[in-house]
Amino acid sequence: MRHFTSVKQLGDLKEAFAKAEYVKENPFADQELGRNKTLLMLFFNSSLRTRLSTQKAAMNLGMNVIVLDVNQGAWKLETERGVIMDGDKPEHLLEAIPVMGCYCDIIGVRSFARFENKDDDYNEKILNEFIQYSGRPVFSMEAATRHPLQTFADMITIEEYRKKDRPKIVMTWAPHPKALPQAVPNSFAEGMNLMDCEFVITHPHGYELDPAFTGNARIEYDQDKAFEGADFIYAKNWAAYSGENYGKVLNMDRSWTVDSRKMALTDNAYFMHCLPVRRNMIVTDEVIESPQSIVIPEAANRVVSAQTIIKEILLSL
Ligand code: CP
Repeated sequence: MRHFTSVKQLGDLKEAFAKAEYVKENPFADQELGRNKTLLMLFFNSSLRTRLSTQKAAMNLGMNVIVLDVNQGAWKLETERGVIMDGDKPEHLLEAIPVMGCYCDIIGVRSFARFENKDDDYNEKILNEFIQYSGRPVFSMEAATRHPLQTFADMITIEEYRKKDRPKIVMTWAPHPKALPQAVPNSFAEGMNLMDCEFVITHPHGYELDPAFTGNARIEYDQDKAFEGADFIYAKNWAAYSGENYGKVLNMDRSWTVDSRKMALTDNAYFMHCLPVRRNMIVTDEVIESPQSIVIPEAANRVVSAQTIIKEILLSL
């Protein structure tokens, strides 16, 4: 594996889960692999889990790590070609990328959808420029359309907690005051299409995701009906994808908040969320604090997913 931008690149899932299990049980077994290798972690957007778990994963592999918050301390970067750079951005991304490539062996990039140009977002303009111009293996730490390290951690967590061969997994939209990208739900849908499960997506009308990601999911507009008999509830907010509503918040309908009444419709389902989560918007205090909430082990598995992927990239160098 050279670049990692989608869980579709995991290959055989049984093998991927076995590699993840090995990493989890033997976190320091591959310290020599990363010796004298440098990971550059580049953030265009804020992060808690991705930053800490990916850095921890790289340190477990014996790597040196450089973290750069592009918007804090670096020159402001122009990303458009053809712009007369007489404004507040003194450096172009097209010089900055190969320069950054000179200082490291692997690059992790976080660059969210900007909701300014749907084509730019859905063509992964920024991430692909890093792949094209850095001369280094690049992995996504959440890009415009996918968050594969999160999804791989989600898949590992489901594999660890599932009690049935073919569990029912429900991804539910939930309200949020700000416009959030579709990267996590797209990526989760992509992952669930790879797993052996009954996959249902529930959301209000207007929040349909790109069918290229939802694949074989059943779309159910009645949230109660979707929850019936579920084994896992995966809550997430996302802004509208379709047409002129791209990137917009269409409603903040709190009747979609995940609460105990809805969880009682499930087959004692586990509650999952990638975090950060807005309590009593996305999920009630009662549900997230319940014994069925596995958001913390899910977050802990972010180290495992990142370490498994970085190890594969190191093996390819
Ligand atoms: N889930 C996740 O990616 O968290 P951060 O945004 O804090 O990295």
